[in-house]
Amino acid sequence: MTDKKANAMWGGRFSQSPAEIMQEINASVGFDKALAPQDIRASKAHAAMLADAGIINKADAEEILKGLDAIATQIADGSFEFSRALEDVHMNVESRLKDAIGTPAGRLHTARSRNDQVATDFRLWVRDAIDTFDAGLLALQRALIAKAAAHAGTVMPGFTHLQPAQPVTFGHHLLAYVEMFARDRGRFSDARKRLNESPLGSAALAGTSFPIDRHQTAEALGFDRPMANSLDGVSDRDFALETLSAATICAVHLSRLAEEIVIWMTPQFGFIRLSDKFTTGSSIMPQKRNPDAAELARAKVGRVAGAFQGLVMVMKGLPLAYSKDMQEDKEQTFDALASLRLAIAAMTGMAEDMEPNADVMRAAAGRGYSTATDLADWLVRELKLPFREAHHVTGSIVKVAEDQGLDLENLPLEAMQKVEPRITKAVFSVLSVENSVKSRVSYGGTAPQNVAKMAEAWSKRLEKDAKTG
Ligand code: ARG
Repeated sequence: MTDKKANAMWGGRFSQSPAEIMQEINASVGFDKALAPQDIRASKAHAAMLADAGIINKADAEEILKGLDAIATQIADGSFEFSRALEDVHMNVESRLKDAIGTPAGRLHTARSRNDQVATDFRLWVRDAIDTFDAGLLALQRALIAKAAAHAGTVMPGFTHLQPAQPVTFGHHLLAYVEMFARDRGRFSDARKRLNESPLGSAALAGTSFPIDRHQTAEALGFDRPMANSLDGVSDRDFALETLSAATICAVHLSRLAEEIVIWMTPQFGFIRLSDKFTTGSSIMPQKRNPDAAELARAKVGRVAGAFQGLVMVMKGLPLAYSKDMQEDKEQTFDALASLRLAIAAMTGMAEDMEPNADVMRAAAGRGYSTATDLADWLVRELKLPFREAHHVTGSIVKVAEDQGLDLENLPLEAMQKVEPRITKAVFSVLSVENSVKSRVSYGGTAPQNVAKMAEAWSKRLEKDAKTG
């Protein structure tokens, strides 16, 4: 007995409707409706090409293009109703087109399959996402550079093992992240280059007997060229994996800055202030001011790295060509990349908002014998001690200072001379944190003059990037 509810797209072969649970596991429209704009873009390119190649007639193509535009409007204004019975976004759009324009709609699927269709749509979606990351990371870099330029000479402790190591400047610290986000942008841009080939026209897996022009559709969709192998075209998702891997590294960078903001915000550190715009209070403890935005930016890496790992697991061991497993590529990628976008935007807001407590940072920079290396370097320079010996002498002096409960700056000259009699009072010039940072003029070092120059160079470079885009 023929069941009227058999799927209209392949109803010829089927006599029953799918089980409820089959629909539930099979339908992807609940999430892949996010691909609707890309699906329509690709269908328009395909229809125009079919007409130009004489595969469908111009009048039908006109109808199809107009119909697709109308659907795009309905999707944009939210009036389009997606139906789960139609499985996915592709069949929802095509079925609505049929309702709207009738017979010509049935010609749109000539020489294509949902396999190349979804591969194309998803590529376009990921490419669009990459473009938003580039803009978002650029804004974040700008915010960090502006803050770094304003604080090129603001001294803070530099840490290793989260123990005071050597004084640095706040500007230098922020510019370290500008470098990281530049590499993230580079990784996204590399991924974009490899991604930018068109699967459209691979059809189900083997190509098609119709005289299609894959170069035309590739160009219309902003791809550099068509993919050269139809099996590869429909069956790889390495472009999503590569983007998620770049996204994971970027999220790791964000999480490190976020973690520092959390630490710097504690009363124990007290290095920075964030305004009410980026903090929350507690419902029970009236004194609280919590860095929730930083904590969430720190946590988002879980979703992003999870999506990368999840998709690796989906793709591992899949035989060529398309398998429905690949429908599991989208939901987590959408979620991960949306999370990353949000984390970048929140971090940009915090970078603009945070203000250092310069006095607190300065005082902390002087604690923990942070200029001990400067003392050792002085012994090498002035007394010609081998560095290893200077290191030893300095260690002994630090121990004396520690025993007396004094900073190096305040330790009497005589106490130092007991360890090394040739030390003169000239040594005090290198023991202040200001002089310490000022002396670090090596390329890439923390000297305020370096930092100011670097911030300036970065501003210029980003301006140039933006112009040449
Ligand atoms: N919704 C499907 C996906 O996301 C579209 C491709 C379906 N292809 C197929 N042969 N059933 O992967």
